[in-house]
Amino acid sequence: MTSNPWTADALVERYDQVRSHTERLAAPLSPEDQTVQSMPDVSPTKWHRAHVTWFFETFVLAENESGFAPFQDKYWFLFNSYYEAVGPRYNRAERGVVSRPGAHDVGVYRGNVDTRMRDLVATLDQGALEKLTSTIELGFHHEQQHQELLLMDIKHVLSLNPLQPVYAGAPEPASEPDQLGWVDIAGGLVEIGHRGAGFSFDNELPEHQVYLEPYRLADRLITNGEWLAFMADGGYRRPEFWLSDGWAKVKTEGWDAPFYWLNLDGVWLEHTLNGTWPVNPGLPVSHISHYEADAYAAWAGKRLPTEAEWEHGVRQAGPGEDPDSVGNLADTESYHPRAAGPATGKLRQAYGDCWEWTSSAYLPYPGFHPAAGAIGEYNGKFMSNQMVLRGGCALTPPGHTRASYRNFFPSAARWALSGLRLADGGAPTKEVAA
Ligand SMILES: [Fe+2]
Repeated sequence: MTSNPWTADALVERYDQVRSHTERLAAPLSPEDQTVQSMPDVSPTKWHRAHVTWFFETFVLAENESGFAPFQDKYWFLFNSYYEAVGPRYNRAERGVVSRPGAHDVGVYRGNVDTRMRDLVATLDQGALEKLTSTIELGFHHEQQHQELLLMDIKHVLSLNPLQPVYAGAPEPASEPDQLGWVDIAGGLVEIGHRGAGFSFDNELPEHQVYLEPYRLADRLITNGEWLAFMADGGYRRPEFWLSDGWAKVKTEGWDAPFYWLNLDGVWLEHTLNGTWPVNPGLPVSHISHYEADAYAAWAGKRLPTEAEWEHGVRQAGPGEDPDSVGNLADTESYHPRAAGPATGKLRQAYGDCWEWTSSAYLPYPGFHPAAGAIGEYNGKFMSNQMVLRGGCALTPPGHTRASYRNFFPSAARWALSGLRLADGGAPTKEVAA
């Protein structure tokens, strides 16, 4: 991880911004809302609020605060997510049965750690500040990841409520998909991975060369309208489109539509954070697994891009390195993907809207080394049985994603805000008999 030079004041100012944003996201949620864990992948809102606090307490305060004592001994056990080196932890799948500390008491914990963090940064000399900056900055980006997860998770919690609650925002007007365009990219020997002085996670490093055959990327995401055509053509009933593991999921899980779609008297509705509405054909399809994205691409006679094709394509024929100016990220407060807007001849929707599944397994880059100690568990130990997604989504905080950012989920995951962009050319496309 690299870091910009930060002054103590700038670090505290950024700390306060990130921390207060988490509380703003939780504000519309009652203590009861914040306690529910609707499935093992989902964590209660108050758990997210406490865990990101535990991260600062564990990785910054414990090693640097004089006379350190934990705010509460048992919180170390309750709010450790997956750090084996830190010690034992509470079972992830049972976070929803822990009623105490409640949402209010989690706020007290947050306030305590915030005061101690500000005090610590104010007392560090320049050398100590420089040493600690990268860990504090990692804490900012960690908390932003959980801001996105908090929204994905509460979406699932609210989806199970027959009252069809609204978190925030309003739906887009109904629209139809526009013409899908293609952008040609030359390929060749290209540089992939994080570059420059700004922050990155360790899994985006080191920058390295990859050879790409000439290829094409679709200029926007696949829409609900196009997904309805896939469904009408037997997309979920024809095994020839599916990877073997994906087809097994279709059969065992009864998949017949994206995760949040429900059929009411022949009309497809979609649960969103803006409420439950008829499926809007012009919006990007979302909450699909890697298996579904791959099956759609096979049905369309195309393929998913590799992560290197995506990254190089965004740099060459997309918005480049500036997600915040162009993407439908969480600061739009739409909390849902939006229509692509007019064609530009370049890649649209590259940042924001939906995380885009790639055909790349989540693996270490050549020369990757996780950091020493517990913090090295952050990314490296998950490099097995997961696929890479790129770009960010409508729940991603601004300042969090970038061209080299590598998100990852198992192939069957559907509760993340995921969609797809097609690729063509370059690597051979699967032949499917129609
Ligand atoms: Fe975490």
